[in-house]
Amino acid sequence: MAEKEPIGVIGVGWVGLCTAACFAELGHHVYARDIVSERVDALSRGQVPMHEPGLSELVGGNAERLHFTTDMGEVLDNASLLFCCVDTPPTYSGDADLSRVEAVIADLGASEGHAIVMKSTVPVGTGRSIVRRFPNVGYVSNPEFLKEGSAIKDFMSPDRVVIGADDGSQGFADRVEALYSTLDGARVRTDVASAEMVKLASNAFLATKISFINEIANVSEELGADVSEVARGMGLDDRIGPKFLQAGIGYGGSCFPKDVSALKQLAGNTGYHFQLLTAVIEVNELQKRRTIGKLQKHLGSLVGKEITLLGVAFKPDTDDVREATSLVLSARLQGEGANVRVYDPVASEGAREMLGGATIADSVEEALDGADGAVLVTEWAEFAELDWSAMRERMNVPLIVDGRNFLDGPSLVEAGFSYEGIGR
Ligand SMILES: NC(=O)c1ccc[n+]([C@@H]2O[C@H](COP(=O)([O-])OP(=O)(O)OC[C@H]3O[C@@H](n4cnc5c(N)ncnc54)[C@H](O)[C@@H]3O)[C@@H](O)[C@H]2O)c1
Repeated sequence: MAEKEPIGVIGVGWVGLCTAACFAELGHHVYARDIVSERVDALSRGQVPMHEPGLSELVGGNAERLHFTTDMGEVLDNASLLFCCVDTPPTYSGDADLSRVEAVIADLGASEGHAIVMKSTVPVGTGRSIVRRFPNVGYVSNPEFLKEGSAIKDFMSPDRVVIGADDGSQGFADRVEALYSTLDGARVRTDVASAEMVKLASNAFLATKISFINEIANVSEELGADVSEVARGMGLDDRIGPKFLQAGIGYGGSCFPKDVSALKQLAGNTGYHFQLLTAVIEVNELQKRRTIGKLQKHLGSLVGKEITLLGVAFKPDTDDVREATSLVLSARLQGEGANVRVYDPVASEGAREMLGGATIADSVEEALDGADGAVLVTEWAEFAELDWSAMRERMNVPLIVDGRNFLDGPSLVEAGFSYEGIGR
């Protein structure tokens, strides 16, 4: 059997490590470089630094094909397709911070015969700017659509694989496409700028769907409709679809907030005011804050009240807390004078500093003991499986604000709770 092409991965965070592990599983030797030596050392020992279902098993099972290093030279010597998976966080202005991407390009120097395969989410125009400045380097845009919590499945069974290349890099793009040849999913071969826009526009569209249903939820609360029923009825229209129509207390995470604001800023830099995205962002911010009003409706002033946040991670099955709604709520509740306690099955410790003065509980029971109200922030399965009657006995005031419409409201009411969902 022909030897599979070795590949390089630069940046072994969520996207980089999943990419490295999945390509190793597909039979490729992967030379994966990070600048954080503790991370590289841990990975070399088989220790995976994040909570992602199936990832540890994949890293362990492909150890002989996964080569972790801090040395860019080792990657350049062994691979010519270099998947760039470094972080592109937001700057204060909302633009994407490309300093890590620029550092990767600078590390390539004058090397010939290599191509950057960009998986990091970057502003439209980034690829063409790099090619203008570094004509010796090939450039392929290959945006990543995996979701934390189901990243391995998403990588191995993609809806689509988007590959963007301009003249001069089509040969590299063919080789990138060949890497995915055993995976299902549509192929979208296009130019670099369009590939970059597919990624930003996809995230912006999903965020728009969320803010839209959240506004429908808020109006439904006033008019006596139930947003879950409304979403069910809407989602059966195949032009609309049922996904991303779950009303809640707003989106968070490392991608949506930054990508939506990056696209808005990108448009603004060209002189175009992207009005819709301005509203999407504003609705999302207000949605988080509406939770405070729901607690106050039952408790009056929150000064001195014990409020529990169930869930810290921005979504279930991950320990990622970047831009998590829990962080905003913790700060706002403390600003209102409440004492905040949090519980999350995996994510609290990593968020200790970001949670300010909130107390971290080791169990749901400890978190709810004597509480004057609880807010379900992250829809971890274990919260649905709790013995809520027993929890009611522990709480001082049996009040639940279900920020994800995740719990069985009528059963909770029957068990003696005051229950507030979103839009119902
Ligand atoms: N996390 C997601 O769900 C997701 C999904 C799709 C796309 N993306 C995009 O992928 C990119 C990476 O996201 P992430 O969540 O994996 O980030 P991350 O912060 O988890 O990982 C980034 C890694 O890059 C490393 N790094 C930084 N500079 C480096 C350099 N010069 N050389 C080598 N390593 C370097 C960091 O140490 C870190 O380990 C971002 O642009 C993000 O928007 C993320």
